[in-house]
Amino acid sequence: MHGSYPDYWARPVPSFGAADPRIVLVGLAPGLHGANRTGRPFTGDYAGELLYQTLYEAGLATRAQSVSADDGLELKHARIINAVKCVPPGNKPLPEEIRACNGYLRAELASLKRVRVVLALGRVGHDAFLLASGLKRSAFPFGHGREHRLEETRYLVDSYHCSRYNTSTGVLTEAMFRKVVRRACELARL
Ligand code: URA
Repeated sequence: MHGSYPDYWARPVPSFGAADPRIVLVGLAPGLHGANRTGRPFTGDYAGELLYQTLYEAGLATRAQSVSADDGLELKHARIINAVKCVPPGNKPLPEEIRACNGYLRAELASLKRVRVVLALGRVGHDAFLLASGLKRSAFPFGHGREHRLEETRYLVDSYHCSRYNTSTGVLTEAMFRKVVRRACELARL
């Protein structure tokens, strides 16, 4: 990717957000011209427009738009972790990439002691979280708006991914996304 786009970040994209979050959002992978360009998850493509706008409205971001990795935006009580760290070939992660990156997700989750809600952005994020946590898929079926109680005070909440594809086909509306993010905040007692 370096050859085609010399100004792009084009490396593994680190997670972004609070040092000690109450909510972790698990995304999919860097977009070719989004996070792979800017170096911050969901930054520079459509999926991020809806995401950061919604996080801002919920009080989880200091700004409604994420423009670049050095624009000063901060997340409050929240952190975004992608299931896959590098832009996948054809912009679609392969199962072996998801498996290969899963140890990073596992280690990062283990280091975060005060997470109350994991908000899965799409089925890949949901499945990656279960794999990283040693939980069975059959026990936690994915569905938009589903709330899975993991422990006394820990929940997995599912959302359809906030991709342009999902919003343009009406699979996910802005109102649906706002609602699920608000609910995640409630469960996290924020
Ligand atoms: N950009 C990301 O960083 N993650 C996604 O899941 C989608 C776009």
